[in-house]
Amino acid sequence: MKESLIFSLPHDKLLTATLATKLKIEIGAAEIRDFPDGESYVRIDSNVQNKTILLICSLDHPNNKILPLVFMAKTLKELGAHKIHLISPYLAYMRQDKRFHPGEAVNSTLFAQLLSDFVDSIMTIDPHLHRIHNLSEIFTIPCATLHAKKIIATWIRNQVDAPVIIGPDEESRQWVEEVAKDANAPFIVAEKIRHGDRDVRVSIPTFDDLSKTPVLVDDIISTGVSMIESIQELKARGFKNPICIAVHALFDQNVYEHLRNVGAQEIISCNTIPHFSNKIDISDVIAEEIKNVF
Ligand code: R5P
Repeated sequence: MKESLIFSLPHDKLLTATLATKLKIEIGAAEIRDFPDGESYVRIDSNVQNKTILLICSLDHPNNKILPLVFMAKTLKELGAHKIHLISPYLAYMRQDKRFHPGEAVNSTLFAQLLSDFVDSIMTIDPHLHRIHNLSEIFTIPCATLHAKKIIATWIRNQVDAPVIIGPDEESRQWVEEVAKDANAPFIVAEKIRHGDRDVRVSIPTFDDLSKTPVLVDDIISTGVSMIESIQELKARGFKNPICIAVHALFDQNVYEHLRNVGAQEIISCNTIPHFSNKIDISDVIAEEIKNVF
């Protein structure tokens, strides 16, 4: 790879520092802040001429981040950067992947087009792929999709006695099956019907061995209703209090406390989005892919 620098938006400094150390890449100097009126200020202080740039920006709460990200990427290019590779551990807007009702925007496609216009490639962890099977269906730049399944399975193997892995809905089967295989545990997949943003019903299939520790695994915890309903359903069926694991800790306000109150014995996430529940570190997954690709 050409001479490189790694930059990030302010909220991703911790992961960026870890990656910089693991990859032995210098962190670029930049100032990104808000003007008093809320508009974004971006200044690049490093010489980026002819350099390959790794730009780290997890895209939770994307509306606040997208403009500073665009300004940063475009300024880096104007200042002579060779290529800009966006590393977004969490990729937003992937769940609205079709026009569910007449007139709705198909956010996943629009967002992918927007990102494709100002960076040269994108790397992400477990994007919510449902009706879209591959990011290259919506992006026009090279895409790398990485997975947290193996490190989640390792965490479960090391931390949980006699687990049974539970996916809250059919979409979760893709990761639950593999996590269970790698964790050497049985798995079940529940059926979920969503009636609205905060209204879901979950039904868990029969499972005989109630001595096992239920481990709910999902890609995202946002409003928390999928996990909350699953916990309540598990408890009604006589299971022990479950451990909840999510790749992406979007966590609306009070969701963590709410999950604890309904009976989650532990709530664990990967550090794709900074949150105090982060216990599973994805930096090696990203660093290995960067070493392979570049
Ligand atoms: C949906 O299909 C996803 O895999 C998650 O189950 C969902 O996004 C979780 O969202 P919430 O926490 O709002 O139920």
